[in-house]
Parts: sequence; C-alpha cells; structure tokens
Amino acid sequence: MIPLDLSGKVALVTGVGDNVGFAWHIAKYLQAAGARLIFAVHPRLVSIVESILTRDADAESRLLPYGTGSIQVEKVFACDVSFDSMADVDAKTREDKRFNKHGDFSIAGLAANVKAHTPHVDIVIHAVAFSPEIKNRMVETSRSAYLTALSISSYSLTALLRTFAPLMEGRPDPNAVALTYLGGDRVVPHYGGGMSTAKAALQIDAQQLASNLGGKKIRVNLVSAGPYASRAARAIGDINDMINHAAAKSPLPRAIEVEEVANATAFLCSPLASAITAQILYVDCGYNVMGV
Ligand SMILES: NC(=O)c1ccc[n+]([C@@H]2O[C@H](COP(=O)([O-])OP(=O)(O)OC[C@H]3O[C@@H](n4cnc5c(N)ncnc54)[C@H](O)[C@@H]3O)[C@@H](O)[C@H]2O)c1
Repeated sequence: MIPLDLSGKVALVTGVGDNVGFAWHIAKYLQAAGARLIFAVHPRLVSIVESILTRDADAESRLLPYGTGSIQVEKVFACDVSFDSMADVDAKTREDKRFNKHGDFSIAGLAANVKAHTPHVDIVIHAVAFSPEIKNRMVETSRSAYLTALSISSYSLTALLRTFAPLMEGRPDPNAVALTYLGGDRVVPHYGGGMSTAKAALQIDAQQLASNLGGKKIRVNLVSAGPYASRAARAIGDINDMINHAAAKSPLPRAIEVEEVANATAFLCSPLASAITAQILYVDCGYNVMGV
C-alpha cells in the first residue's frame, strides 16, 4: 500500500469553531495519518472548542476515521487573525473580556505560544473566512465590510505564513493548505459582502506565497471545496439552494461530503504531493468545469 504518513509532523490548524466545519474534519484526518495537532481558535470560541474536545456528549464526533482512535489536540491557542500584533487591536476589542482573558490573541502571540510548545511546525491549515456583510450583494457591500473580509479571509494567510515560515523551514516537506471556493473564480450570486474578492485574493496570494517560499521548500496549495452547510456557510442564507444546485449540475451528481475535503487536504499535506505547489485542487464533484 502507498503510505499517507504524517507521523511526527506538527499541524497548526486555524478555523476550528465547532465539530461541523472543514477545519475540524481536516484536523481529524491529518491526525489519522499521524500528525500532532495545535489549534488556533477565534478567542470567542476557545471555550466551545475546549468543551467539544472533552465533554462526553461530543465523544462520537472526536472519533478519528479509519479506526485510529480519538482526536488529541496538544494545545488550543486563542488567535484573532485580524491582528498581526496587539498594537493592531482596537480599544473596544482590548476591553472585551471574551478577548482579553486570553492575553496576546494576535498572530504574534500565537507564534510565541506555539514556539513555547514546539520548535517546529510542518503543516499550516488556513480555514478562516468572514465578512460582516455576507448577505449583501457586491453592489451593496460597504468599503469597511469589504476590507474586513479581505483582512480576515485573505491577508491572514500571508501574515500566518510570514510568521510561521521560520518554524517550517528545514523540515521535510513543510506545507500549507488554504480553503477556497469557486466564488473566487466565478460569479456566485449568493456570495456577497466582498467574500468573492477575498477568495480571488486568497488564491493569487497562495500562489505568490508558493513562489516566495518555494526557495525554503515550503509548499502552498488551495482546496476549493464545493458548498457545505458549515456554520459560516449557513450565514450566507441560501446554502441549501447552493448545495442542491451543485448536486444537480455536477458531473458527479451529488453533494460533496466534508470527509472528502478532509481526505484531499491530507493528501496535499503529505509527501505523496511533494511536487505539488501553487495549485487549486477542486473537491467539488467536478462542478467547476460546467458551463450551465
Ligand atoms: N462551507 C462551504 O460551503 C465552503 C466552501 C468552500 C470553502 N469554504 C471555506 O472553508 C473555510 C472554513 O469554513 P467552514 O465553511 O468550515 O465554516 P466554519 O464556520 O466552520 O469556519 C470558519 C472559521 O473562521 C473563523 N474565523 C472567522 N473570523 C476569524 C478571525 N478574525 N480570527 C480567527 N478565526 C476567525 C471562525 O471562528 C470559524 O471557525 C473558509 O475559508 C471557507 O470560506 C467553505
């Protein structure tokens, strides 16, 4: 059998906010292949994620695939990827107890926390996206929401990789995978609030970063997932219409399963994909090739 082996590798997974979203499943599949896990979680969601990792009611969701045990996360660190350092944090957020109880919740703080725990990181998963006006069509999107969508959903990949590249450099086959969506390539009517721009930016940024960091042997790829009813996607409002439409029109005429996105991501993170960088892997039942 061809081995998909991530033993001994440390994966930093952003974007876990519950046990439904892509990041949670990707983490489980990386660990099923042997990876150690560190989570970087939005400050307001840390206690929810900690509870999912411990309480009996969620035990079943913690089971790893392929009969490989239950998920074990070494550290859960708070990080709001809007902030490169605490100097960027506005007064209102600084005074918010849900944030300031975590100390330094910026990307710099995350790096300090990770470095105190491990001298290296092998894999970075970027599964973060947000627009305060996701329900607004592009033509109705405010400048401020547009810039927020880009800051959180796109620039954060650059900030994270700049910060973590020194911990990745010199490791065997270090790499990153970011989650994107077809709305970054084509007009998807429901995908507003600047999110389509944010995904287009994320895609070219990932390719730029692959070029910038290739000399350090760091690979950077994207998984473009088909529509899936995560918490963020449910905020779009019409996610079930999007899922049903894609299921009816795709070459494989069905919806994607979250586990299929997790499997494909684990492959891209593995040495089996060692010559693959700067690519978008569509995990969407082929929907992206359709004209009508
Ligand atoms: N669900 C879909 O249909 C779909 C399709 C293709 C791509 N994606 C992408 O997959 C990724 C994961 O999304 P998901 O659908 O699993 O939803 P999700 O709600 O599970 O994940 C989004 C995460 O982003 C985090 N986040 C938002 N703002 C943040 C900030 N400022 N700092 C730190 N974390 C922040 C949230 O806490 C949440 O955990 C996103 O990039 C999304 O665009 C989703």
